[in-house]
Amino acid sequence: MQKYATQELLVYCKKENISVLAYSPLLGGYYNRSGELPSAYSGDESEANLKELIEIARELGVTPNQVVLAWLRESSFPSIPIIAASTSNQLDENLNALQVELTRDNLNRLSTLGQVR
Ligand SMILES: NC(=O)c1ccc[n+]([C@@H]2O[C@H](COP(=O)([O-])OP(=O)(O)OC[C@H]3O[C@@H](n4cnc5c(N)ncnc54)[C@H](OP(=O)(O)O)[C@@H]3O)[C@@H](O)[C@H]2O)c1
Repeated sequence: MQKYATQELLVYCKKENISVLAYSPLLGGYYNRSGELPSAYSGDESEANLKELIEIARELGVTPNQVVLAWLRESSFPSIPIIAASTSNQLDENLNALQVELTRDNLNRLSTLGQVR
């Protein structure tokens, strides 16, 4: 239910050019922890989505976190990610997501996961 409300909200933001404040888009670092998800996000669909995210990251030679941040940067709706880092290495990795270039195929696959085009 919440997922579809989020989808509608993003489509509306895109249409009206409203920025989305994406807080905790890295999900506390879970995406980088080999397929582990917090219980609130567990389920077959989430796990399949995570698997695809990890696969895209592997193909690009970057981390899943970096793919998430690059996707937000490239997304069709304006977004402002609020992220935190516990170490300077994490900060470097997150900032280096600015250099990650997603292909059209990557974007299409990621949009299918998030359902926003
Ligand atoms: N006002 C609001 O409604 C609101 C809501 C949410 C968040 N916030 C604020 O937004 C900020 C971010 O929130 P958040 O802590 O939930 O953010 P987050 O970015 O989802 O999680 C940050 C944590 O993710 C892990 N992480 C970050 N980069 C990583 C990397 N490259 N590789 C592996 N792990 C990485 C680290 O955890 P480890 O320490 O486990 O490595 C880090 O402490 C905070 O200041 C928070 O207070 C505000």
